[in-house]
Amino acid sequence: PENVNILAIETSCDETAASIVTNGRLVRSSVVASQVEIHQRYGGVVPEIASRAHIEKIYQVVEKALADAEMKPSEIDAVAIANQPGLVVSLIVGVTAAKSLAFMLGKPLIAVNHVHAHLQSAIIEDSQLELPAIALIVSGGHSNIYRCSSAVNLELMGRTIDDAAGEAFDKVAQILELPYPGGPSIEKCAQNGNSKAHRFPRSMLGKDSLDFSFSGIKTAVLYHCNGQDMKGQSLVPNMSGQEKADIAASFQAAVVEVLVKKTMLASKRVSARTIVMGGGVAANTALREAMQAECDRRHLKLLIAPKKYCTDNAVMVASLAYEKYKEGLFADMTLEAKASS
Ligand code: KG4
Ligand code: ZN
Repeated sequence: PENVNILAIETSCDETAASIVTNGRLVRSSVVASQVEIHQRYGGVVPEIASRAHIEKIYQVVEKALADAEMKPSEIDAVAIANQPGLVVSLIVGVTAAKSLAFMLGKPLIAVNHVHAHLQSAIIEDSQLELPAIALIVSGGHSNIYRCSSAVNLELMGRTIDDAAGEAFDKVAQILELPYPGGPSIEKCAQNGNSKAHRFPRSMLGKDSLDFSFSGIKTAVLYHCNGQDMKGQSLVPNMSGQEKADIAASFQAAVVEVLVKKTMLASKRVSARTIVMGGGVAANTALREAMQAECDRRHLKLLIAPKKYCTDNAVMVASLAYEKYKEGLFADMTLEAKASS
């Protein structure tokens, strides 16, 4: 068909999402049912609970994606799903739904990698990717640096050896008793803080390494707070709002500095012309501003996902799936959910 309408489903973690995108660019609908409230009381995502919530939501989310796009199922040309990486019990709900839909409609099934899809979020609204490009994908589960020889050809250059950047935000938020998800809470709290109040460690893992390590900084924050009160149940019982804000701002500054430095190191190594940034942590204003300033200084083009597409969504899945559609790269009914990729 001249216009290819792809219905995409995303269930890799705690968002049940569906979207219809035409030709990989024109967003016809984007529905995201968040489970944040369900997981908030546990301070993080509980896989079994996430899976149940996906089962409960998936049908109405897909129906709404069709309704918002004012489309009939028969107008869909392919069904796309992010089948890896993520929580298997969550992924499997989306994979099963996508397979059923594709089978029922008699349309091709397309499987995409969730982390690669995050990169698409940055090029949906501006696709002028001057190559080679370096992509930084920072989310709750991943902190990856890729070399992109095209929008869909990614070569992993660096990754975290322990916690992901978003995970560090979530864990530090827990220490500071800020609500889940930690990223937005830390960002908000940091607004009133002094980022130079504390010097938390910047783990570089050797000057040429493109890998990340964020568990050390989390521990440093924990020890810092422990020092305040060793006996109490709460680590931050008597901590003033200002002190919390200073810790949040200092922690955020340390993570941002490492992310920007490593991205620039990778960029130099491949003589990149464009930097692309996506994933939940890319919504962070301090990171966006620091990366922009550094790219301006080095005359690099920077493409950052719009905030609405930083965190998990199905638009990015549909967009990447279109690239596979054009190549005829289809999956079949044996497709499985995979935790890692
Ligand atoms: O991409 P995403 O929705 O899910 C995964 O694929 O993991 O990312 C979620 C992560 C969470 O760890 C959350 O705390 C973090 O992204 N995050 C942020 C911000 N918004 C979300 N981290 C820092 N600053 C933010 N504004
Ligand atoms: Zn994600």
